[in-house]
Order: sequence, then structure tokens, then C-alpha cells
Amino acid sequence: MPKVERNQRTLIAYATKSGVTGESAAIIAEVLRDTFHYEVDVVDLKKNTNPPLRDYRNIFIGSGIRMGRWYGRAKKLLERTDEHHNIIIFLSACSPVIPRNIMQQCSSILSMF
Ligand SMILES: Cc1cc2nc3c(=O)[nH]c(=O)nc-3n(C[C@H](O)[C@H](O)[C@H](O)COP(=O)(O)O)c2cc1C
Repeated sequence: MPKVERNQRTLIAYATKSGVTGESAAIIAEVLRDTFHYEVDVVDLKKNTNPPLRDYRNIFIGSGIRMGRWYGRAKKLLERTDEHHNIIIFLSACSPVIPRNIMQQCSSILSMF
């Protein structure tokens, strides 16, 4: 498989409070690298609040859910994306049902493109 250009790289950026979303991010990165030969950077949004999104084509945004809300750092990152990005959102939660307010926030941010 050819090496991807810098702007074709994949970012996995996550917000976590108890660590689970970071573990998921590491597993997703391993599969993308080992199976699909993607060039992947993993960023903890608590340590790097402002990753340079123009460097990436694919952006995975991960967040835990507490009290029916996803984490602010993940939402802020989604707000910084644009129509040039392929966006994947993954959530860690104890319920399999995604709260309606999170769905609405994502739809509303993505519909601005
Ligand atoms: C205080 C607290 C509130 C939570 N609220 C929810 C919730 O509203 N809905 C849900 O599905 N899971 C809820 N959970 C479960 C978390 O989403 C789950 O533990 C998740 O893996 C946390 O992700 P993180 O470790 O990356 O922060 C809650 C957990 C805690 C500790």
C-alpha cells in the first residue's frame, strides 16, 4: 500500500475522564495501523487541546458520556472540523442508546458544512 501524504493522515482525538475512551482510541489506532496501514496520530485532548486539524483527512473523535452529556473537549474539536474532513465519532458509555441531545449537537455542528 502506498504511503499516505501528510494531509491524508488520520487523527484519533479523545476526551476521557476515567480512561476507557483512551483505551478504545489505542485499539482503533492499532487496527488502522496494523491492518489498514494508515498513518495515525492519537491525541489526548486534555494534554493537547488544539491539535492542527488541517494536517488530517480522517478525524476520529472519542468521548465518554456522563449524566447524558459527552465531554466538552470532544464537542469543541468537532466544532473545529470542516467539510474536508472525514469524521467518525465514537462514544464510551454504559448505555447502548446515544442520548438525543448528543445526536442533535453532532447533527447541528455537521450541518453547518
Ligand atoms: C458519574 C458518571 C456518570 C455517568 N453517566 C452516564 C450516562 O449518563 N450515560 C451512560 O451511558 N453512561 C454513563 N456513565 C458511564 C460512562 O460513560 C462510562 O464509564 C464511560 O466508559 C466513561 O468514559 P471515560 O472513561 O472515557 O471517561 C457514567 C459514569 C460515571 C462515573
